[in-house]
Amino acid sequence: MSARISNNSTPIRVLGIVGSLRGGSHNARLMEVARRALPADAVLETWGGLGDLPHYNEDIDTPETAGHAAGDLRAAIASADVLLLVTPEYNGTIPGVLKNAVDWASRPAGVGALKGKPAAAIGSSTGQFGGVWAQADLRRSLGIAGARVIDAEFAVPRAAEAFVEHDGEVSLADESVLPALAELLESLVEEGRKNRSAREMATAEAA
Ligand SMILES: Cc1cc2nc3c(=O)[nH]c(=O)nc-3n(C[C@H](O)[C@H](O)[C@H](O)COP(=O)(O)O)c2cc1C
Repeated sequence: MSARISNNSTPIRVLGIVGSLRGGSHNARLMEVARRALPADAVLETWGGLGDLPHYNEDIDTPETAGHAAGDLRAAIASADVLLLVTPEYNGTIPGVLKNAVDWASRPAGVGALKGKPAAAIGSSTGQFGGVWAQADLRRSLGIAGARVIDAEFAVPRAAEAFVEHDGEVSLADESVLPALAELLESLVEEGRKNRSAREMATAEAA
């Protein structure tokens, strides 16, 4: 059964990462739209350290040399219930900075922060398809990295005209697509609720 409120009164923690470093990013605006479309029992925190991550290199992947941002990314993912990635499309795929983050979060192999983590990929681009190739590539990469990827797409095309702002609040110009976004987010958060319940049952059994 799908419970809207998890057994635990602590909200489901959604970690959001925007795959653009640009000030004024359309994808950052889409993240804000998603924040308001989340189920009532979920809260969104965003992680903004993409630009501080070193290029992934196994030689520097040690606690001493990986750097603060890499450790911080892994800790942020580990403590989140679910991940929401919002990505632009660059030359038909995801921006290098976002792929770099997936690579950092995928290691150590088999036990990285992404292992078993429910994740969804949405995005926006100024093109007419909304960056669907980037989102598909991101879903594939996350899955290979061990995440449990939500098989749903939400792409906002023609980003330059797709967002409107009133009193500092961002909305979609075409609000008819919002139910599809809310449905995708509900599926994502539901995976977080299930994980939460499974962990609580395991703890109760062990006690
Ligand atoms: C290097 C680069 C490559 C791009 N390639 C694509 C592309 O393949 N498909 C597409 O729809 N838009 C492409 N765009 C346009 C982006 O969709 C647009 O710049 C978008 O606003 C970027 O997201 P942001 O606003 O969140 O930074 C590209 C932009 C850049 C800078």
